[in-house]
Amino acid sequence: MQYIFDKGSLHGKNLLLLHGTGGDETSLLDIARFLDEEATLLSFRGTVQESGMNRFFKRNGLNQFDLISLEEESDKLIQEIRSVSKEKGISLEEWTIVGYSNGANIAAHILLERHFAVKQAILFHPMSLGVDTQKFKLSDKKIWLSVGENDPIVPKVASDQLVQQLEKRQAAVTIASTNAGHQITMNEINQAKRWLSERE
Ligand code: MLT
Repeated sequence: MQYIFDKGSLHGKNLLLLHGTGGDETSLLDIARFLDEEATLLSFRGTVQESGMNRFFKRNGLNQFDLISLEEESDKLIQEIRSVSKEKGISLEEWTIVGYSNGANIAAHILLERHFAVKQAILFHPMSLGVDTQKFKLSDKKIWLSVGENDPIVPKVASDQLVQQLEKRQAAVTIASTNAGHQITMNEINQAKRWLSERE
């Protein structure tokens, strides 16, 4: 997979970036640097193409998810994260995922459905993909997520469902509600920054 790695300072966070549909590995860099100007950044480009737009797994129309692609691409992404992390000498526990939309969705799916050591995530406008096959506890996971009251892509029921899935498995979930749509607002970024600064 194509990615950007940008080494930060010793005291910075390690942020792993997953863009939304139509984005690329550069899309979340400015937001990540605002979240922590000293951060080390690892940012991937989704390898699935939809009418020229990069994504992390296939879909057959808005919110018509291809669950076979979702599982295959989740495994490939995990493989890539493991391999680059090893090469760069960063353990999985040290990353905080920062995902938006499609990137947030695959991140949430991986945390719910795979035994994966990453413990923290900032998820902008994620939703449940309707997959809920595992029962292992997520009590070591801390998830901040944002929900837009007027989000035309993420139905309220689908963001509620994701929160329920995470909380049922004992993840610590912090929800930031905005009255905006699917876009990432400054208000959300500021809340995420505060949350991140209070974590390890
Ligand atoms: C998805 O496909 O993951 C969601 O619909 C969000 C998006 O449009 O990327």
